[in-house]
Amino acid sequence: MANVEDPRDFVHQPVMLDEVVTVLSEVPDGVVVDATLGGGGHTEALLNANSGLSVIGLDRDPVALAAADTRLASHGQRAVRIHRRFDEMAEALRELDVQRISGCLFDLGVSSPQLDTAERGFSYRHCGPLDMRMDRSRGITGGDVVNSYDQGALTSLLRRHGDEPNAHRIARAIVKARPINSTVELAEVVRDAVPAAVRRSRGHPARRTFQAIRIEVNEELEILEGAITQALSLLAPGGRCAVLAYHSGEDRIVKRCFTEAAGESPPPRPGLPPLPDQQAHVRLLWRGVRRPGADEIDRNPRSEAARLRAVERLEGGRQ
Ligand SMILES: C[S@@+](CC[C@H](N)C(=O)[O-])C[C@H]1O[C@@H](n2cnc3c(N)ncnc32)[C@H](O)[C@@H]1O
Repeated sequence: MANVEDPRDFVHQPVMLDEVVTVLSEVPDGVVVDATLGGGGHTEALLNANSGLSVIGLDRDPVALAAADTRLASHGQRAVRIHRRFDEMAEALRELDVQRISGCLFDLGVSSPQLDTAERGFSYRHCGPLDMRMDRSRGITGGDVVNSYDQGALTSLLRRHGDEPNAHRIARAIVKARPINSTVELAEVVRDAVPAAVRRSRGHPARRTFQAIRIEVNEELEILEGAITQALSLLAPGGRCAVLAYHSGEDRIVKRCFTEAAGESPPPRPGLPPLPDQQAHVRLLWRGVRRPGADEIDRNPRSEAARLRAVERLEGGRQ
């Protein structure tokens, strides 16, 4: 099990590494923002692939930044690390006097060390406090959500953020079992609440519940759209933005942001006229999503859910 504060324990296998590096190394020389630096795996490979690029790496988790410091130290000023949420990207770049960027990467969600460190409270597999904050200096905890949201609010967040078909039963069981103080207690409550057939099926019955609470605690979906919009408006012509999403809620937001910016958003309802501003500011580098290959999934099962989308900024267009 990983140690909560030791950067040497921060081992995360970067997902779809070759594809991401290919997309982001074919851009004009300049600055690429790694909006989710983590252990710095994607950044390191990108710096090695293209000597014309430098990277500004953001992460909301100080433990991840410490790991990236160790990994990227030999790149000196080509790899700047900042403790910031990615929706604060524009402000962070202004402070560094960076007006335009050549690329941006979002590798969403949590890293393996965050999941594997019991004290962080992200995992139903390890016993720990119900924390689940990526940045432990601010915000509500998983325990606050579990022990204070009413049953209706819990049901709704389990559906929205977890696609949980048994949301109502689980929410009712959580409210009845309060107070719930640890990850394993919560996992047990969920396991007992779901139908027996679900308990026997593949995967842990609490997986979706933990994902939903983590997304709520870290406001992951609320801040994503604004962050992608900022990134697209900062791109120089020919610059690219790539996003790795790991569940349908995230990917829906990425798809909407990209298709709108590419001037391809559908009319709000069938039969209604198209939205007024349909000018394309970016082009989609491919249609739909790219997924990891079977080999990668064998090597790194956590990559299985990944969906990669990418766009390139066109000349002109809205800033
Ligand atoms: C999947 S990991 C990234 C791994 C990284 N690409 C690598 O190769 O090591 C996601 C990282 O994004 C960070 N993160 C998630 N949401 C964030 C946000 N809104 N702002 C900044 N960092 C965020 C997490 O703390 C985590 O370290």
